[in-house]
Amino acid sequence: MNFIDSKILNYSNQFTSNQSKLLEDLERETQYKILMPRMLSGKMVGKFLSMVSQIKQPLHILEIGTYTGYSAICLAQGLQKTGTLHTIEINKELEDFALKYFKKANLKDKINLHIGNALNIIPQINLYFDIIFIDADKKNYCKYYDLAINKLNKGGLLIIDNVLWSGKVINEPKENDQETKEIQTLNKKILHDPRVNNILLPIRDGIMICQLL
Ligand SMILES: C[S@@+](CC[C@H](N)C(=O)[O-])C[C@H]1O[C@@H](n2cnc3c(N)ncnc32)[C@H](O)[C@@H]1O
Repeated sequence: MNFIDSKILNYSNQFTSNQSKLLEDLERETQYKILMPRMLSGKMVGKFLSMVSQIKQPLHILEIGTYTGYSAICLAQGLQKTGTLHTIEINKELEDFALKYFKKANLKDKINLHIGNALNIIPQINLYFDIIFIDADKKNYCKYYDLAINKLNKGGLLIIDNVLWSGKVINEPKENDQETKEIQTLNKKILHDPRVNNILLPIRDGIMICQLL
């Protein structure tokens, strides 16, 4: 995942505000209790998401891929008083962990955790969103984009993680590398989608932001 010089990354980290004690605890507990802790977005992406959310002040947020709840807590920082965040996770074993931290963050009434396949759940949520964050299985990224864009308010932001996929997107992918192919297809699809204005930022593993025109 580190395609940016590690000294530059360390410097950027050092000159970014500290994460809260709660997020530090969540990250530590994820590392010693949960499989694949590198899936957690972490301080840089987390700060970025919470700052975007605080600027946008969304009424409703949708997240695809909760994992242990780190990014959901970051995104929820900008919610309006009556706002809600809906987050979808397919792995039921993560439910208790994420709910515990939503409660600790005083967000249990604002965050609605849906357990199940996002492809089935997204169409069932009867809301339009100001921010949608896609961070689940890469092989379905184009399907998530198509579902999400139809759930976005005008001016709303669709944020997609891992669009540089450890730098693999710049080369011809191996025949069986479906994930790289899917991300390359999505990046092209977004660039040519007249409904959105977009920017691909080389933060961590690459973040795409699209604004619905
Ligand atoms: C990269 S992790 C999410 C990390 C989280 N957003 C964070 O920053 O802490 C991806 C998550 O998506 C979940 N996932 C994978 N396929 C899914 C699907 N079809 N529907 C919902 N969740 C899915 C995985 O179980 C995993 O927990």
